[in-house]
Amino acid sequence: MPNLETDYMGLKLRNPIIVGSSGLTKSVGKIVACEKAGAAAVVLKSLFEEAITMENYDWESATLSHSEAYEYLKAEINLQYGSHEYCEMIREVKKTVSIPVIASINCISANWWPEYARKIEMAGADALELNVFPMVSDLKTDSSSSEQQYIKILKSVKEVISIPVAMKISMYITSLPNLASELCRSGLNGLVLFNRFIEPDIDIDTLKIRTTFPITKDDNINHTLRWTSLLSGRIPCPISATGSIHSADSVIKLMLAGASTVQLASVLYTQGFKKIGEIINKIVVWLDEHQFKSLSQARGLLNFSLTESPDLYLRSQYLENIRRTE
Ligand SMILES: Cc1cc2nc3c(=O)[nH]c(=O)nc-3n(C[C@H](O)[C@H](O)[C@H](O)COP(=O)(O)O)c2cc1C
Repeated sequence: MPNLETDYMGLKLRNPIIVGSSGLTKSVGKIVACEKAGAAAVVLKSLFEEAITMENYDWESATLSHSEAYEYLKAEINLQYGSHEYCEMIREVKKTVSIPVIASINCISANWWPEYARKIEMAGADALELNVFPMVSDLKTDSSSSEQQYIKILKSVKEVISIPVAMKISMYITSLPNLASELCRSGLNGLVLFNRFIEPDIDIDTLKIRTTFPITKDDNINHTLRWTSLLSGRIPCPISATGSIHSADSVIKLMLAGASTVQLASVLYTQGFKKIGEIINKIVVWLDEHQFKSLSQARGLLNFSLTESPDLYLRSQYLENIRRTE
C-alpha cells in the first residue's frame, strides 16, 4: 500500500484530504464524523469579526463599504459562534479527535486579527488559517496597497502566535507570484488557493441585484491548477488547493502540480463524508498503477519549478492551442 502521508505546514497528515472551513466543521460531532470518514485534518468554520461585535455592529455602514461581503456575512453570521464559544469548541474538539485542527478567522478591521489569533492559539488549535476577504470596490485603492493588506495582516498575526499560519487568498490578484513570495518572506507557513466569493446576479423580474454562494457541482480546477503548478517548488511554503474539487482525478492532478493538500466542501455536502474514503481509495489505486511508493514521489512532478521560462512555455502552449483550433 503506497504511503499517503503528507506534511502540511509542519503538521503530519495521514493523507492530503482536509475538510475545508464550512458548516461541515462547525461542531464537535461533525468533526468526529470527518475524522471517522478518513479526513486528515479539518479547517474549522471561520470565526467572523462580526460574530463577536454583533451587538454593536454597524450593519448599515458595513453594507455601504462591503456590499459584496455583506450578503454572505448576513446569511452566515446568525449561525456563528462568538470568540468565547469558538475557543471552547476548539478545546472540546482537541480532547475528542486526534487529527490536526486548523482554526480559521475572517476579520475586517486590522486590529482584530492578532487579538483572535492569540485566543485561538491559547485554546489549542494546531494551526490557523486566515480567511482574507478583500474585495476592493473603491476607485482609489491601487493594486499595490490592496496587496499590502495581506502582508500587514500576516505580520500582525505572526508577531503574536507561534503555531503555523496559512492564508486563504483571493484569485483576483494582479501579480500572484510576487505576493506569494512576499507572504513567504513574511513568515507564511501555508498558502491556500483560493478563497471563494459570493457571485452577483440580477433578477430581471424584480430588477434587483441578488447574490449567491453556490455549492459547486462539478470539478472546475483549471485556475487553481494553473497557479499551483506555477508557484509550487518556487515558493518555500506548501500549497493547499481548494474550490470545485469533486473527484480523485482532480486531487491527483493538483498533487502532480505540487499541492500538498486539498480542501473539500461542496462535494461532501452533496455526496456525504463517504466520498473522502472513495477519493483516498482511488488515489491508492492510481499510485499503484503508476508504481509510486508514496504520494510524495508524485507530488510536484508536473509543476513549473524546473521550467526556465514559464512565460515562454505558456506563450508557446497558447499559440499551439490557437493553431490547433484553426
Ligand atoms: C456552505 C459553505 C460555507 C463556507 N464557509 C466558509 C467559511 O466560513 N470560511 C472559509 O474560509 N471558507 C468557507 N467556505 C469555503 C470553503 O472552505 C472552501 O474553500 C470552498 O468551498 C471549496 O470549494 P468547494 O465548495 O467547491 O469544495 C464555505 C463553503 C461552503 C460551501
